[in-house]
Amino acid sequence: MSQFLFITDLDDTLVGDDAAMAQLNERLSQHRQQHGTKIVYSTGRSPTLYQQLTQEKPLLEPDAVVLGVGTMIFHNGSPEPDATWQARLRQHWDRDRILATVAHFADLELQPESEQNEFKASYFLYETVATEVMTELQTNLQQQGLEVNLVYSGGKHLDILPKAANKGFALAFLQEQWGFERHHTVACGDSGNDLSMFEINRSRGIIVGNAMTELRQWHEANPSSDRYLATQHHAAGVLEGLQYFELL
Ligand code: GLC
Ligand code: MG
Repeated sequence: MSQFLFITDLDDTLVGDDAAMAQLNERLSQHRQQHGTKIVYSTGRSPTLYQQLTQEKPLLEPDAVVLGVGTMIFHNGSPEPDATWQARLRQHWDRDRILATVAHFADLELQPESEQNEFKASYFLYETVATEVMTELQTNLQQQGLEVNLVYSGGKHLDILPKAANKGFALAFLQEQWGFERHHTVACGDSGNDLSMFEINRSRGIIVGNAMTELRQWHEANPSSDRYLATQHHAAGVLEGLQYFELL
């Protein structure tokens, strides 16, 4: 057994089955103590909604937390996001022009103010029209020279992010900072905003058994021996995957 970088989504991946999460937390916490394993939470939630979750559920103290779909990285309880990361996202990003463009799209409804940040413009978008609207939006933004990442999740959320921001790039950033190689890094998720962590192909991957269709379909179309689709749900699926890869 040796140390590894464990990076997991929260809602419907780590969180969803309290008993299974308690069991997984205990195993991970022990592993961190004995081997120096790093625990990272990577979520779409804003700082406000993340704080809320920490009040509701007994999460472990993470070594770093990635919030807002890869737009903010907080190290070890620091109140300020990583400045190097913020500087990287600032390049080629013009939020005002993006908002002005989106205003012409009737199907896109702005999410609450708490879920917006300097590097994230988030909307509600119905699944039935999502593909069509995203294609049109992407074309429109491209014509203006605006390069973005469009991330669709949970059959209802659209995040517009800087080209250099998503959960996958944030994973790579922490991996380089801490010096973990591919087979000692594992990413876990259930929905569209987790896809970039698998797509970047820099780690092992665990998809929990309750994963959304958007992620499951992509996984089936892009199989990899480094990615495991668990049969069990939530934290039980994560534990199943960690044992499959013999990390725990
Ligand atoms: C979280 C965020 C929301 C985002 C969604 C998908 O629910 O609060 O802003 O759109 O994750 O990434
Ligand atoms: Mg999730």
